[in-house]
Parts: sequence; C-alpha cells; structure tokens
Amino acid sequence: MFIPRLGVNVDHVATLRQARGTRYPDPVTAAAMAELAGADQITIHLREDRRHIQDRDVHVLRQTVQTKLNLEMAVTEEMAGIALEVLPDMVTLVPEKREERTTEGGLDLLRDTAALTAYVTRLKDAGIVASLFIDPDKTQIEAAVEIGAQIVELHTGDYCDATSEQEALQELEKLKTGGEQAEQLGLIVAAGHGHDYKNILPVAKLQLFEEFNIGHSIVSRAVLVGFERAVQEMIDAIALGHHSGS
Ligand code: PXP
Repeated sequence: MFIPRLGVNVDHVATLRQARGTRYPDPVTAAAMAELAGADQITIHLREDRRHIQDRDVHVLRQTVQTKLNLEMAVTEEMAGIALEVLPDMVTLVPEKREERTTEGGLDLLRDTAALTAYVTRLKDAGIVASLFIDPDKTQIEAAVEIGAQIVELHTGDYCDATSEQEALQELEKLKTGGEQAEQLGLIVAAGHGHDYKNILPVAKLQLFEEFNIGHSIVSRAVLVGFERAVQEMIDAIALGHHSGS
C-alpha cells in the first residue's frame, strides 16, 4: 500500500522575493528545507511573465534538488527549449493566461492533440517524465493516454473552492471518477491546486492519488511556523486522510 508523495511547490517563496526585488527568501533554500522535512519532490512553475520563479532558480534547483524536480510550464517553444536544456525529472504541462492570478482550469487536450503529442514526445525522448494538468473529465483523460502522458495531475481547484458541502461532495465525486478512470487506463494519477490542511483529507482518503503538488497553503503556513514544520504537517495530513480510507 502506497502513501501519496508530496511535491512541495516553492513558487510563492519566490513571489515574496520578487515583491521587493531582493535576493531573499530564496526558493532554493526553501526547497532544501522541504526535502529535509520529507518532501518527495520540488515543484516550480516557470511562468512566461517570470512573476515568481526565475530562470536562475530553475538552473540552481536542477543542481541542488536531491529528490525530484517537477517543472510546471506552458506549452510553448521557449519552455520546451528550457526543459530540454535543464532536464527536470518531470514536466507538468499547464495552461497559462497572463492575466490570471494562478492556473485556472486544466489544459484542453482536445484542442490540438497532434501538436501536444509531438511536444510530449520530444520531452519523453529526452528522458523527462510527462504529466498533463487536466480537469477530471473522461474525454480529457482519454486524450492524455492518446497523447502519451505517463501522469495526469487532476485539477482540484473546483473541489477546493467549493462554497458548500454539497458542491464539495459533487466535485469530490468527479475527482474519484476521474481518478479511477485514469488509473484503469494505466496512468499515474496526481492531484493539485488549492489544497490546504483540511480539504486534503477527503481527497487523500480516496486512496487514488499517488502524488499531490501543494504550494500556497504550505508557504503561507511556513511564514508563521517555519518551513519544515509546515511541510511535516502537510505530510501528516495526507497520511491521516489516506489511512482513514482503509
Ligand atoms: N499543481 C499545478 C499544476 C499548479 O499549477 C499549481 C499552482 O502553481 C499547484 C499544483 C499548486 O497549487 P497551490 O499553490 O494552490 O497548492
């Protein structure tokens, strides 16, 4: 029986740094502390507008990360070039709109399936594991298989942002159905976006997701209690949720 892996997203450590144009706090230091606290992976999103993570961070983290480096990025030529140069362990392809506050919704894999297949193939040929960030939708999951992704990360934003218990339960059901479909089709199933220390419990309880990528809630708690404790408490919450499903 597996316990889900935790990928700690350190983007918002860089957000704090960029707010003042200082050299601190350094996401590289945060990544090392997250690993010391038990994180299984470091996740970073190099956005086209460079609003938080910088190219320097990607290069230094490639040298220093001891676990796995997961680079989230848009499907662009610029990002393909960076990924093929830096060679992260894994790339997660995400949609990106300049005006958004954070990633809104999953990638639409039905829009340009042939181009996405070619893009994913280039990454995989370089030895990079390819993950696609999608909504828990049957046609998207089937398209992910067609495209050749090894992992799908199901977008948990609608569940996490639900404003009533009924809505949360409906969204959780979609994640369960989507997770089961993806698993049956042979994909590794991850989940992410919007998780905090409470809403993670019912999702972990499903025992379907092998990996969670979590950033904002961990970095926010870290400001108050310290990075290692914030990471450890999320690892504990995931384990608690997971075991409550047995
Ligand atoms: N997974 C993906 C694909 C994301 O784009 C993000 C946000 O960068 C996350 C996980 C982490 O989301 P949050 O910061 O809300 O935990």
